[in-house]
This record gives sequence, structure tokens and C-alpha cells, in this order.
Amino acid sequence: MFKPGELWPDTHGTPINAHGGGILFHGGTYWWFGEHKIEGEAGNRAHVGFHVYASENLVDWRDEGIALAVDDSPGSEIPGGCVMERPKVIHCPATGKFVMWFHLEPKGGGYSGARCAVAIADTPAGPYRYLHSLRPNAGVWPENVAEEDKRPLSAEEAAHLESLALGGAPFPWYPKHLCYRRDHEGGQMSRDMTLFVDDDGSAYHIHAAENNGTLHISLLADDFTTPAGRYVRVMPGRFHEAPALMKWNGRYFLFSSDCTGWSPNPTRLSVADSIWGPWEELGNPCIGNGAQMANSFESQPTFILPVPGKQDAFIYMADRWRPRNAIDGRHLWLPIVFKHGCPVIEWHDQWDLGVFDV
Ligand code: GAL
Repeated sequence: MFKPGELWPDTHGTPINAHGGGILFHGGTYWWFGEHKIEGEAGNRAHVGFHVYASENLVDWRDEGIALAVDDSPGSEIPGGCVMERPKVIHCPATGKFVMWFHLEPKGGGYSGARCAVAIADTPAGPYRYLHSLRPNAGVWPENVAEEDKRPLSAEEAAHLESLALGGAPFPWYPKHLCYRRDHEGGQMSRDMTLFVDDDGSAYHIHAAENNGTLHISLLADDFTTPAGRYVRVMPGRFHEAPALMKWNGRYFLFSSDCTGWSPNPTRLSVADSIWGPWEELGNPCIGNGAQMANSFESQPTFILPVPGKQDAFIYMADRWRPRNAIDGRHLWLPIVFKHGCPVIEWHDQWDLGVFDV
């Protein structure tokens, strides 16, 4: 049974510690990667690394240890105390490697770094070898802007943008078409993120860019370790975080949250016929009472798992963050059901995979 929001013991009885996670299905086994949190507010930063668990049935999870550990050696970009969030792992058929992407904030810089980082391994559980961090698509213009908007900022525009002192939250004065031009040379910002592999084997990095104001969807190179240099801006100025993508009946559905830090908010569902867009926002996919809809059952999305071998079966994976005592953050999984062609979520105190058989 899945018990959303309850402590979820692993096969040794220790609560699963894999927050902001994602699942790789490989060789008949599910591999769950997530942030290993420690107690207190310190737990909002990385002190251990990414934990990995394995399961054959999605309910009973074996502790497979730390897939990518923080590294305090000289020159390391992932020392204890940096921020490492939302790891996602995919398998690359071209190289045979398992490729992990995550959100990295260098130590001591708050959330201003806005970088993503990549690590690889020969086996699903790793350990993973850190490769590099980057700001995606340096020197590349987005595909879906007009030719005349493919130009760096003028000195006046740059000064104006600087004066706004943007953080990562929505304000009415947010200039929705300046930030990507500012970041063209050095690379686009990348905070909350996910990966998605399409039916044709193409892999995409979906990340909150432009001071969180706009999501970018960026194709990965054949070895999945760098961007290929093709990307679009999605819903400029709409401030989507916590992206999670699924494909159903040939359409792409994006679950994401509003930008309210660790606090939950009404989830957003968006749809597109092509991953390159155009994307259309449909509204809140959480169906319940007012409070449940306002805080999405007290959760922010992290991943959507298509259940192999079952028709129309997807699991919404989310986090109930507890920033004052990070280790107490809860995993919340709910089945996705389809209503009038839309994937939606309803509350269940407990449920099992049998819900997909009816
Ligand atoms: C949340 C996000 C977390 C983390 C946090 C920092 O919105 O889901 O992954 O980045 O913000 O405040």
C-alpha cells in the first residue's frame, strides 16, 4: 500500500530518505534517486549526497546507499554545505552510461548560482562520478523568439534589469523578455529541473530559467551529458517551478508548481502537442476541497512515473517539504486518473497499483 505523506520505511525499517526524487526503470528494477536530508534547517543543504533505493514492486524499497556523495576534496564543486537538489537519472543507449542531472548551487552563494550538474555511472546504483556543472545553452538563442529579439541587452536594458534586483519570485514588474538575453553569453539559469526521455529516445532537460520566470526545454546531446544547443522558452513570465513531465495519447502534460519556496501552492497543469510547444496552461490538476486544491495536498511535484506494463497508469510523485527539519519532509505519491482527456489527482489515504486495473 502507498500511504501518501506518511513515513515510508525501507526494507530495514528506516524511513526512505530520497527527496526531490525521480525514478529510473532499468532491468526490471525501479531505482529511486533523491536528496538525502539531515535534521534541522541545515538539512536544506547537501551534507551526504543523493540516496538511491531499489524495488521490484514500487512499495518495498532496498537501501542501495549513496549514489553520488558530497566531496570535500580540493577543487570539488560538490562539497558538503552546497545545495544539490532534484536528481534525475536516465540511461543513455549511445554510451551505455547512467546519466544523472541535478540542480547545483555552489556553496555559500544561496540560490544565485542557478547551475545544473551532471554525473555518470556504469551501473544504476553507481557510485556516480561527477563530470561537470554548467549553465545551459551559452551562446545559443532560443528557437521560439523572433529574430529581432535574438540580441544581447543594451547598456540601458542591462542597467534597468540590474536595478530590479530580481530574485526568484514573481513581481508585477518582472520583465518577461529580458533575462534570457542577459544570460545568452554566460548560459541560461537552471534551478528546479527534471529530465524527460521521449518515445524516439530524445532526452530533454526542463528547467526553471530567467530568475524562475520562464521554463526552458532543452534537448540533450546524444551522450546526454550536455545540452545539444536547441531549446525553447515556455510560458514566459509565468514562474513555474518543480516541473514534472509525462506523455499520454501523444500529448505532453507538464505538472509544475508556483514559485513559493518550500511552501505548497496550487499545482499547474499545462499541455502541448509537441514538446517544443506551444504550451497551454489548463489549471490545477488537484481535485478536492478548497484547502486540498490550494496546497495540492500539501505537496510540490517532483516526477511522474509511467508504470511499465500498465495502460494509462502514471504515478504523481511529490514532496511535502519540511524546511525547519528537512529530514522530516514526506514523500507523497498519488495515482493519476484521466478526466475528459486531462490527467488529474485525487486524494487517497492509501492505495495500491490495483487502482490502475479498474
Ligand atoms: C522549492 C523547490 C525546492 C527548493 C526550494 C528552495 O520551491 O521545490 O527544490 O529549490 O524551493 O527554496
